[in-house]
Amino acid sequence: MTIFYFTATGNSLAAAKAIGKGVENAKLISIPQIINQPDLSYQDDVIGLVYPIYGFGLPKMVRRFLENVSWEADYTFAVGTYGNEAGAAARNVQRLAQTLGLRLDCSTTLLMVDNYLPGYEMGKQIATLPQKHVEEHLAQIIAGVRARKANQASANLVRRAMTAVIKGGEPLAMRGAQAQGYLVSESCTQCGACAKICPAGNISVGESVRFGDRCEWCLGCVHLCPQNAIHLKNERSAARWRNPEVTLSEIIAANRQT
Ligand SMILES: Cc1cc2nc3c(=O)[nH]c(=O)nc-3n(C[C@H](O)[C@H](O)[C@H](O)COP(=O)(O)O)c2cc1C
Ligand code: SF4
Ligand code: SF4
Repeated sequence: MTIFYFTATGNSLAAAKAIGKGVENAKLISIPQIINQPDLSYQDDVIGLVYPIYGFGLPKMVRRFLENVSWEADYTFAVGTYGNEAGAAARNVQRLAQTLGLRLDCSTTLLMVDNYLPGYEMGKQIATLPQKHVEEHLAQIIAGVRARKANQASANLVRRAMTAVIKGGEPLAMRGAQAQGYLVSESCTQCGACAKICPAGNISVGESVRFGDRCEWCLGCVHLCPQNAIHLKNERSAARWRNPEVTLSEIIAANRQT
């Protein structure tokens, strides 16, 4: 089994790890580590994709990955992790795969903590986690993958309309200079962790922290700065999130570009 993943705060990596757990020779491949390779051709018995849902759609790097990858497998699946409302993401990812000639037997979603700081207070998100029954839903997804369950992902009219209005996250993804509006407080120690956390190689740390124009708006640097020194002007809380099943070192290993 090969599982491709993209993660900022660890939810998608935690899900990918759980799906691959106990499967002989399971390989987890971080998309930021391979996205610039000239050849993205893969073969395995089972191939999966685990990604966070942004604006009811795909992170722009994950879209680019799908547009460039070719995979051959007996069974393929995709899981979009999300925090509150997935819109028509699962349906649209399956349709996108179809358009691109990529086999995608099952496309589904997994409700986890919502790390979107302009929308949600992290303390409340974490407090409501038990009501999301993540383990139970993840177990169902794992059982589906083991049984090679296929689906035709659907979304009702309201979700399709919402997703169409938001354009499947594309306007969010287009804002590559987003991070240039982030505020770095005096508690920054210039440790350089944010530059390693960034999946887009968009941060450089010298005498100050500088953001370029390739931001994926993943919020990894904001959530994971060890000093909690990076802030959004419109964040709803100072509290931050990292999935406890994933260490900071694992996220750095997944995302590091330098
Ligand atoms: C820019 C951005 C947009 C997001 N959009 C949505 C969304 O449309 N619906 C939703 O339920 N969660 C949304 N989220 C929350 C993430 O999908 C969710 O927290 C995900 O599990 C994070 O995965 P990660 O920890 O692997 O990065 C968004 C998060 C970010 C940073
Ligand atoms: S991770 Fe935080 S403390 Fe370290 S350089 Fe970046 S902003 Fe500063
Ligand atoms: S600058 Fe921050 S928010 Fe933007 S891609 Fe890098 S880690 Fe993510």
